Amino acid sequence: MNRKVGRVKAGSKLKGWVLGGAMALGLATAVAAQVEVLHWWTAGGEAKSVAELKTLLANQGHQWRDFAVEGGGGDSAMAVLGDRVANGNPPAAAQIKGPAIQEWGKKGVLANLDDIAREQAWDAQVPRVVGDIMKVDGHYVAVPVNVHRVNWLWINREALRRAGGRPPRSWEEFFAVAERMQKAGVIAVAHGGQPWQEFTTFEVVALSVGGADFYRRAFVKLDPAALRSPAMEQVLTTFRRIKPYTDKAATGRDWNKATAMVIKGEAGMQFMGDWAKGEFLAAGQKPGEQFLCVAAPGTERSYIFNIDSFAMFQLKDPRAAQGQRALVKTIMSPGFQETFNLNKGSIPVVTGVNRDRFDRCSQESSAHFAASAMLNNLVPSIAHRMVQGDAKEKVLREAVAAFWNDERVTADETMGKFVAVVK
Ligand code: GAL
Repeated sequence: MNRKVGRVKAGSKLKGWVLGGAMALGLATAVAAQVEVLHWWTAGGEAKSVAELKTLLANQGHQWRDFAVEGGGGDSAMAVLGDRVANGNPPAAAQIKGPAIQEWGKKGVLANLDDIAREQAWDAQVPRVVGDIMKVDGHYVAVPVNVHRVNWLWINREALRRAGGRPPRSWEEFFAVAERMQKAGVIAVAHGGQPWQEFTTFEVVALSVGGADFYRRAFVKLDPAALRSPAMEQVLTTFRRIKPYTDKAATGRDWNKATAMVIKGEAGMQFMGDWAKGEFLAAGQKPGEQFLCVAAPGTERSYIFNIDSFAMFQLKDPRAAQGQRALVKTIMSPGFQETFNLNKGSIPVVTGVNRDRFDRCSQESSAHFAASAMLNNLVPSIAHRMVQGDAKEKVLREAVAAFWNDERVTADETMGKFVAVVK
């Protein structure tokens, strides 16, 4: 697996040296404190999005210190964060999501952001379900960046044309298209063989095959009667049917490399959240022209949400804390939310952001977010840390990966591992 843990971007040593020199010259007051930000946004579209935040912060006289930890889905980043906090040296901000915000908050290491939240009227700006995730015991400790939709299928338009197909709306249509793509010499499904990516595809199949109520009973409530059920068995069987349409070299592949296969037409389709769109756009492609974004089969009327956010740590250095507060305010500003999300593939999380420049995939995402909420088909992503704490999520993720990667592992055995999570 391509995971360079703790890689701090090149140039930071040089910056440190220059900073030291400036201080020696008595210029310390003129030099801003660094705001260190831990994140895992290192792919093309992701890096472009982060660059925007860096620039906006620099414009306000604060210095961004990049703490980028490679590894899609953030497993490596979370491990590195644990070490840093344990050593009493947390970054100013870290990409932390969902219930993990609560877990960190309960340790008493996060900063209270209530006054900024009041000043910028966050309660009125973000949907309640989002605001609640950002709070611990009623106090804001984290700031939301975006809303990603997970249940997308990305399609290379030319590959679809060559396979003589239309975008699949059901699993039967999907497997028929996949079959024709393979016959046309195209890898039907670009897959990155890492547990979080297998889990991502799995949750989409679960929503499609089982429906939103089943999804909630299984992954939100961890109801054993759903975790081991005929519906779950059908989910696992459908999930496994996808594997023969992936290529042998998938093991360990990063998600953005899988997206690149679809961009180049080496592969026809990919299941992935809309951070994948950031890659298509960064490669100069446009939706409806070179690629298509369609809801994964059977999920048009539902929505798996994945919200990125940054939690803020308590800092001793008052100047760093000032930079941190500037970062928080910037993230919630409409200008940042617009530009960041245009690059990232997600949609803004705050209200009142101009949507004119957003493409049809984003427009569709916005419309479906609202419609799914009304239909009660809006569910949080289990694979992207929106539902369960790290420990439980990991058990489920590993059970799914084991099932995908080893044909000898049965659905029954896998459901047994799911149920064991409850205990
Ligand atoms: C998700 C995250 C996205 C994207 C993706 C791939 O968990 O929410 O923003 O970065 O991982 O790294």
